Amino acid sequence: MNKHNDWHKDQQYIALVADLLIKPEVSKLENITQHINSNRLEHSIMVSYKSYKIGKKLHLDYRAMARAGLLHDMFYYDWRTTKFSDGSHAYVHPRIALKNAREITKLSKKEEDIIVKHMWGATIAPPRYVESAIVSFVDDQCAIVEAASPYFKQKYQNMKLKLKFN
Ligand SMILES: [Fe+2]
Ligand SMILES: [Fe+2]
Repeated sequence: MNKHNDWHKDQQYIALVADLLIKPEVSKLENITQHINSNRLEHSIMVSYKSYKIGKKLHLDYRAMARAGLLHDMFYYDWRTTKFSDGSHAYVHPRIALKNAREITKLSKKEEDIIVKHMWGATIAPPRYVESAIVSFVDDQCAIVEAASPYFKQKYQNMKLKLKFN
């Protein structure tokens, strides 16, 4: 999709998240559709890696951004079909992800805030750290890119058919 697919070649990034990537609780996110054209694992890695790169550039806690970014959507229901009576998906799923993340790793206060506040904008409580705000923005941006990409792909295919080039 873009250069953020290069995460697997980035040894420093891998070193920060390898222990999480090998957990079945994380790898099984691959079986869940997230935004039409992406599964939940791809989405989580994209949010994690993009946040990590921004964090590094700005001399922030890029480790927390990489790890919490990877775990921010660690829930297993389909948000398009599952509805809750005790709160919206935007409110509920960060809390489920936090609980699930706590079960597979030890989280810092900042990592907890990144996960639970990643829907900031749709939910009221503001992030406590700049790292949380950035991961939340990156998450929004990734959702748009992932949802839009099949649309653009289709447009491109149609254009190719029309002009008969390859
Ligand atoms: Fe989310
Ligand atoms: Fe997300």
